Amino acid sequence: MTAQIIDGNALSRQLRADVAQRASALTARGVKPGLAVILVGENPASAVYVRNKVKACEDSGLHSVLEKYDATMSEAELLARVQALNDDPSIHGILVQLPLPAHIDDHKVIEAISPLKDVDGFHVASAGALVVGEVGFKACTPYGCMKMLESIGRKDLRGQHAVVIGRSNIVGKPMALMLLGANATVTVCHSGTPDLGHHTRQADIVVAAVGKRNVLTADMVKPGAVVIDVGMNRNDEGKLCGDVDFDGVKEVAGWITPVPGGVGPMTITMLLVNTMEAAERAAA
Ligand code: GUN
Repeated sequence: MTAQIIDGNALSRQLRADVAQRASALTARGVKPGLAVILVGENPASAVYVRNKVKACEDSGLHSVLEKYDATMSEAELLARVQALNDDPSIHGILVQLPLPAHIDDHKVIEAISPLKDVDGFHVASAGALVVGEVGFKACTPYGCMKMLESIGRKDLRGQHAVVIGRSNIVGKPMALMLLGANATVTVCHSGTPDLGHHTRQADIVVAAVGKRNVLTADMVKPGAVVIDVGMNRNDEGKLCGDVDFDGVKEVAGWITPVPGGVGPMTITMLLVNTMEAAERAAA
């Protein structure tokens, strides 16, 4: 058996077309959705991510502002910029690219963003809203994974067992909560879990979000399961790969996301969706 591919590029195109339509409708009412992206320092990977985010905004008819600062910027200066953007009515979403230079406290900066503009979904208020099921912004990567599941008819996950591998604040934990919110039975595994395969072999849905190659191999997957690969790693030849042994697992799984072209484009797409939502809420 060969798994069907969940194509993150194709799904992103559909969702971005919807964002573009909503952006155009809101702009016609005099409110152009706006995202501000702050990049501090010279991290080359961050520079690429940020460029892609800004370009995606432009392609969908959103206004975007990129603020780039030297790595020597002080924490107080950055906090002042965040506050100015909180107060700027033309900006509906604020994203501070992580990691920040070591002398700046990430947590303090994220908490300074207004929860009404926290389109990354990283603020404690956004995380708390997810826990209790209130309205708030959902972290983009797990939100994108939920949209991928929906795209194959897995919206209500009642009766299904989902296993999340990874417990980060930006993927693993919010992923588990979103799956729970969709009525799945959820197990969270992590680096301290003995016999990972024992858990994953019971899963109807596996989400791998560890940041390590070949964490999930064919012998660890139930035939027909849905496998979502959040990993972004490089193999020995320098080629982009995920956490899942794609070639092996695709022979066992029912559905699988590729790397690249799977979860990656969905993360940026959900940032656009959140920014659109923030603008619509502000205009309501
Ligand atoms: N660094 C890597 N991914 C992300 C992301 O999704 N948001 C922010 N703010 N920083 C990141």
